[in-house]
Amino acid sequence: MSILYNDHNKRFHLSTEKTSYIIEISEEGYLTHLHWGRKIRNFGSSQLLEVRGRCSFSANPDASKPMRSLDTLPQEYPAYGNTDLRNPAFVVQLENGSTITDFRYVAHEILKGKPTLAGLPSTYVENVDEAETLEITMEDSLIGLKVVLTYTIFQKHNVITRSARFANEGNEKLKILRALSVSVDFNRNDYKFLHLAGSWARERHIEIDNLSTGRKSIDSRRGASSHQHNPFIAILSPEADEDNGEVYGFSLVYSGNFLAEAEIDQYQTTRVSMGINPFDFTWLLEKGEVFQTPEVVMVYSSEGIGDMSRTYHKLYRTRLCRGEFRDKTRPVLVNNWEATYFNFNAEKIEDIARTGKELGIELFVLDDGWFGKRDSDNCSLGDWIVDSNKLPKGLDDLAKRVNHLGLKFGLWFEPEMISPDSDLYRKHPDWCIHVPNRNRSQARSQLILDLSREDVCQYIISAVSDVLKSAPIAYVKWDMNRNMTEVGSALLNAERQRETAHRYMLGLYRVLETITTAFPHVLFESCSGGGGRFDPGMLYYMPQTWTSDDSDAIERLKIQYGTSIVYPTSTMGAHVSAVPNHQVERVTSLKTRADVAMSGNFGYELDLTKFTEEEKKQVSEQIEQYKNIRELVQFGEMYRILSPFEGNDTAWMYVSEDKKEAFVVYVQTLAVPNPAIRNLKLKGLDPNKEYSLETQPDVIFGGDELMYIGLNIPEIRGDFKSITWRLKSINS
Ligand code: DGJ
Repeated sequence: MSILYNDHNKRFHLSTEKTSYIIEISEEGYLTHLHWGRKIRNFGSSQLLEVRGRCSFSANPDASKPMRSLDTLPQEYPAYGNTDLRNPAFVVQLENGSTITDFRYVAHEILKGKPTLAGLPSTYVENVDEAETLEITMEDSLIGLKVVLTYTIFQKHNVITRSARFANEGNEKLKILRALSVSVDFNRNDYKFLHLAGSWARERHIEIDNLSTGRKSIDSRRGASSHQHNPFIAILSPEADEDNGEVYGFSLVYSGNFLAEAEIDQYQTTRVSMGINPFDFTWLLEKGEVFQTPEVVMVYSSEGIGDMSRTYHKLYRTRLCRGEFRDKTRPVLVNNWEATYFNFNAEKIEDIARTGKELGIELFVLDDGWFGKRDSDNCSLGDWIVDSNKLPKGLDDLAKRVNHLGLKFGLWFEPEMISPDSDLYRKHPDWCIHVPNRNRSQARSQLILDLSREDVCQYIISAVSDVLKSAPIAYVKWDMNRNMTEVGSALLNAERQRETAHRYMLGLYRVLETITTAFPHVLFESCSGGGGRFDPGMLYYMPQTWTSDDSDAIERLKIQYGTSIVYPTSTMGAHVSAVPNHQVERVTSLKTRADVAMSGNFGYELDLTKFTEEEKKQVSEQIEQYKNIRELVQFGEMYRILSPFEGNDTAWMYVSEDKKEAFVVYVQTLAVPNPAIRNLKLKGLDPNKEYSLETQPDVIFGGDELMYIGLNIPEIRGDFKSITWRLKSINS
C-alpha cells in the first residue's frame, strides 16, 4: 500500500519507492503539510507544527489558542483571509463581494489507479496497480463549496501528481479568482529556483536564482505556455547539482497561461505554488458546477537534477505520451521549410524526396504554403484547400508520388489561426479572439481562432479531417505562430469574458483528442514557432514537438540541454539545416550539425538536392549511424555530463536500460590552444561491465574506468567541433 491513513493521529502517509509525502488533519480540520522528501518509515510526532512560539502580527482563528495561526502553519491548499497572509492557493468571491473563505477537512477516499481529469491532459496508468490515489475533500460550510484535492502516487516512478477540483454544492453563484493546482510549504529558506527561460529561437535556457525573502515567480500571459517561460520549476537545496543533493521538480500539464511562484516569508519558510495564471482569469461557478485544475507532476530526488530529469523522462515517455507511436522509433525526415519556404511546386518537392530516398530518409514533410493562396505568410490561414497553382494534381497525387519513391508523406497545418485575408475570415469575422470596438492586433499577419466556441472547434475538426482523409498522410506538424492579445470571445457574456483563455485551452484539447483519436496511424508533432508550446499538455496528444526554430548546432546545445531537464529525447525534433544558419548565420560543419541533431528525432531541413556528391555520402552515413543508435537515443536513459551554460564544452550520453550500450556526444564550442589533458567522466554505465568502442573494438574499458577516470578527449582544432563515441558491453 502506498497510501496509508492513520485515524489515530489523522495522518496520511503517501510513499513511492524512494519518497514520502505526509499530510495531517489538524484538530481544527485544516490540512497541514508535514513532509515531502526522502522516504521515512513513520512520522513520529507533530513537533514540526508546534515549533512556533510567539507569532506577533499573525492572527489566531481561535482566540483561546494565541500560539496558533494559519500564517505559520505549513498547509496543503491554503485559503485566503482567515489568518494566513502568504500566497493563497485559491481565492473565491462570494455573491456579497467577500473573498474570505474557510475550508476544513470533511472526508477522504483512497482509490486504486488514477482517475482521468475531465477535459484536461494528464499522466495515466495502464494497470490500476501502477498507482494509488488519495482524494481529500475540504468544505467551506458557509457557502457549500467543496474542494477535492487529488494526490496520485506512482510507486515505481517516484512521482506524485496533484490537482484540485472545485464543486459548488451551495446556493450561491461563486466566482473563482485564483485556482492553482498545487501549494507546498517547505521548512527552509535557502533553496535555489531553477527555471527554463528564453525567447523565440532561444528556448528553455537554464536559469538558477537564489531565493530570498519575498517572491520569485515566472509566468505566461500569452495564451500559450510560451517560449519565454516553460511551465516547470525545480527547487534545489543549496548543495544540489547534476548528481547530488535534494531537488523538487514541479511540472504543470497545461499549455496555456500559468504561474509558478516561490515565496519566502517572515518565518523563513518557502511556499511553492503552481497552476493556471490568476492574472486576467476568473471563472464563474454556478450552483452545481465543477471546475477542475490541471495537474502538476511532482518529482523529488535526493540524487540531483539528473536523477529528477530521468524520472520525468521515463514517466512522460511512457505515461503521458500516448498512442501508436509512443513506443515506436521515430522516422528520419526531411522538411522543405528552410529549403524552399513558400516557393515550391510538385516537381521541386519530388526532387527533394527522391534525393532523400537515395540518402536513407524515411519521411518527407511538406511545410507551410500548400493551401489557399499562400505565397507568403500574409494570407490564407483557415482556408485548408490545396493551392492548385503549386500542386495542380492535388495533395493525394503528390503524397502518392512521394510514397512511390519509398517515403512516407507528412503535412504542415496551423489550424488554430485565421488570416484576415482569407475566405474564412470574410465569412466569419467574429470567429477570432477579439474584444468589440478594439483593435485586432495582428502578429505575422494573423489572428487566433476562438477555440472557446464549439462551432469554431467543429470547423477545425472537419477542415483538418477532410485533408487527412484526402491523401495518404502519415505525419502532421501542428503549428501555432502567435500569442493572444485583446483576449475576448463573441459568445461569452460579460461575467465570463475572463474565462476565454482557459476555455480556449479546453477547446484545443477537445479538438486534439478528437483528431488524434480519429487518425491513430498519423504521427503528430506539435510546434509553436519552434518551442513556444513545448509542454506536457501538448505531449499528451502529440508525442513529439519541434524543439526550436533555431537549428544552429551551437544554439541547439543550450536549447536541447535545457529542454532535457524535463522532457525526454523522444519528444524533441532536431534537424540539420543549411549554413550559414538561417537564424544566427553561424557556419558549422555538417558533422557537428548532425552530431547535435542526432540527440533528438533526427531529420534534415534544407535542400538535399544542393549537396555535393561528397556531402551526400556523408549524409547517408549519418542517417545510417542514426538508424543504428536511434532506439538508444530515443528510449535510453540520458545523462548530462558537461553543461553549455557553464563552459566551453558540452557533453551528454545515452545508456540503454540494460546498460549494454551507450552513445556519448561531446561538443567543443571554441578551439582552445594548448588545452589541458581532458577526461570525460561517463555516467550511468555498469561499473562491473567491460565496454569497447565501436571505432576501436580491441580496446576494452571497464565501466568503472570510464566513469571514474574517464574517456580521453583528444585535442580538437577549430571552433564548433564534435566527437561521438558508441560503446558496447562485451559481457553477455
Ligand atoms: C514556424 C515553424 O516553427 C517553422 O518550422 C515553419 O513550420 C513555419 N512556422 C512555417 O510557417
